[in-house]
Amino acid sequence: MGRRTVNLILIALLAGLAAAGWIVQSDPSKPNYVFLPNMVESVPYDSFAENPNFADGKTLQLPPDGTIPRGAVRLHYSTGTEEAKRAGQELTNPFKLSDTDAVRRGSVIYGRYCAVCHGGTGKGDGPVAMRGFPPPPAFTDAKSLAMADGEMFHLITYGGENMPSYATQVSQEDRWKAILFVHVIQQKEQAAAAAAAQSPVPPAPPAQ
Ligand code: HEC
Repeated sequence: MGRRTVNLILIALLAGLAAAGWIVQSDPSKPNYVFLPNMVESVPYDSFAENPNFADGKTLQLPPDGTIPRGAVRLHYSTGTEEAKRAGQELTNPFKLSDTDAVRRGSVIYGRYCAVCHGGTGKGDGPVAMRGFPPPPAFTDAKSLAMADGEMFHLITYGGENMPSYATQVSQEDRWKAILFVHVIQQKEQAAAAAAAQSPVPPAPPAQ
């Protein structure tokens, strides 16, 4: 390789480094030069942006009446305790407590959506309940223990007296899995209570 070529390569390298030095901002609070910005500034309308193509001017459109999402099971219930009881008789949990994956998913759902009111151990002492929201009963209450899974499913789907509906946030499958986790809490709490009842009472101090 001639000296001339080597010099040309070195000059090219120097020019490249100078260009890089110009592109990379020395001020870290400013963005660097954006190469191919198409992915950042997308062409489609943003979900919540105004949209002149629809009559109501919104980008997010409601699904047409009567459509149901793929894979969803249509529920033929309305609100109220009577309907909850009927759901308790007719619906069964498609997942079993022995299904560890389902229980694990249930614990995630519970932690995200339910613990805020019901508390980590289901005593009805979550942060929302501690700040004035009517506290739910403990899951170890006789009423909760007697509740059929279908009844709980109805409650999560349609809401109760004070508990709101979680139908839009939690899929049907995840609702059943969250119910599994409610049973896990019930079993744990009942076992803890039984152990506490059985533990030897500390001996009374000797009479003086
Ligand atoms: C905003 C607070 C709140 C959230 C969040 C909440 N609940 Fe509730 N839950 C309640 C209240 C209050 C009750 C008592 C019944 C009523 O007033 O509707 C209740 C009752 C229940 C009961 C029946 C207990 C009984 O003895 O009546 C179950 C089971 C239950 N919730 C499960 C869940 C699950 C599972 C989730 C998460 C998907 C959840 N809850 C999220 C407030 C909440």
